[in-house]
Amino acid sequence: MAEPSTHENAPDVRVERDGSLAIVTIDRPKALNALSPDVLSALLGAVEALAAEGSAVRGVLLTGAGGRAFVAGADIRSMAGRTPEQGEEASRLGHRVAAAIEGLSAPVIACVDGFALGGGLELALACDFIYATDASSFGQPEVHLGLIPGFGGTVRLPRAVGLARAKELIYTGRRIDAAEAVAIGLVVRSFPDRESLFAGARATLAEVGANAAPAVALAKRVLVDSAGRRTESATELEIAGFGDAFRTNDMREGVAAFIEKRDPVFTGV
Ligand code: CAA
Repeated sequence: MAEPSTHENAPDVRVERDGSLAIVTIDRPKALNALSPDVLSALLGAVEALAAEGSAVRGVLLTGAGGRAFVAGADIRSMAGRTPEQGEEASRLGHRVAAAIEGLSAPVIACVDGFALGGGLELALACDFIYATDASSFGQPEVHLGLIPGFGGTVRLPRAVGLARAKELIYTGRRIDAAEAVAIGLVVRSFPDRESLFAGARATLAEVGANAAPAVALAKRVLVDSAGRRTESATELEIAGFGDAFRTNDMREGVAAFIEKRDPVFTGV
C-alpha cells in the first residue's frame, strides 16, 4: 500500500510512494483543485523532488482529490486585477510545471476523475497520457472568461486531437464527456469508476516497469522533444536516442536474451 511521503510539499499537494510508484494528488477539493500560484509552486516542488530521485521513480500517477474534479482550471479568483505582465508570469509558472512533468524520465499517467478544465486539462496533457473515469469531462473554457489557454493548451491539445478539433474546442469552450474524449484520442482509456481507473493505471505502469527502464526513458525523451519539430530534426533526435540505447546494459541484456532464447533480466542501467 502507498506510504505517506517523506517530502510532502504543501497541504494542497500530496505525494505518496508505493515502492517505485509515486502518486501525486492535488488536494484542494473546496475549489475543485483549482491551480492557485501556491498549488502550482507546490506541484513544481513535488515534481522536481521526484526528478531528483532519478531512476528510483519508475512511474507516476497524477490525480485530484475529492471525487468531483481532477482540476477545474487555473484559479480564476487569483486572476482578478492582474497586469498583463503578471498574467504572463502566471502562465510561465504553469508552463514550468508542465515542462517538469514532461522532463521526468518515468512515465506519468493523468488519472482524471471528474472535471479536467482549462489549466486542469493542460496539466493532464503534459502527462504522457490520460486515463479517466466515465463520469469525467474535459474542456478549454478560457474564452468564456476572456482568456486563452495559458498552460500549454494551444500547443499540446492540437498534438493530441489535431488542429481542427483543438480549434473547435478552444473557440467554443465547450465541455466534452469521457466517451467523446476517448473517441477523439484525448483520453487513452476510460473506466467505470475511480477504483478501476487506478487499478488500470497501475497495471499499465507495471507492464511498462517490466521493460528496460533506460529504453522507456529514452523513448519518452525523444517523443517529448520531437513533438512539433520538422521531420528531419525529429528524426535526428531519434537517431541520437537510438544510439544512446547502445550505451546501456539493459540493451545488451535484452538483445542477448533474445539470441539465447531466454527472458531478459533488466537492471535499469
Ligand atoms: N478557480 C477558482 N475556483 C474555482 C474554480 C477555478 N477554476 N473552479 C471551481 N472553483 C470553485 C468555485 O468558485 C466554488 O467555490 P465556492 O464554493 O467558494 O463558491 C467551488 O469551486 C465549487 O465550484 P462550483 O460551485 O462552481 O461547482 P459546480 O458543480 O456548480 O460547477 C464547474 C463546476 C462547472 C467546474 C465550475 O466550477 C466551473 O465552471 N469552474 C471554472 C472552470 C473554468 O473556467 N476553468 C478554466 C479556468 S481559466 C484557466 O484555466 C486558464 C489557463 O489555461 C491557465
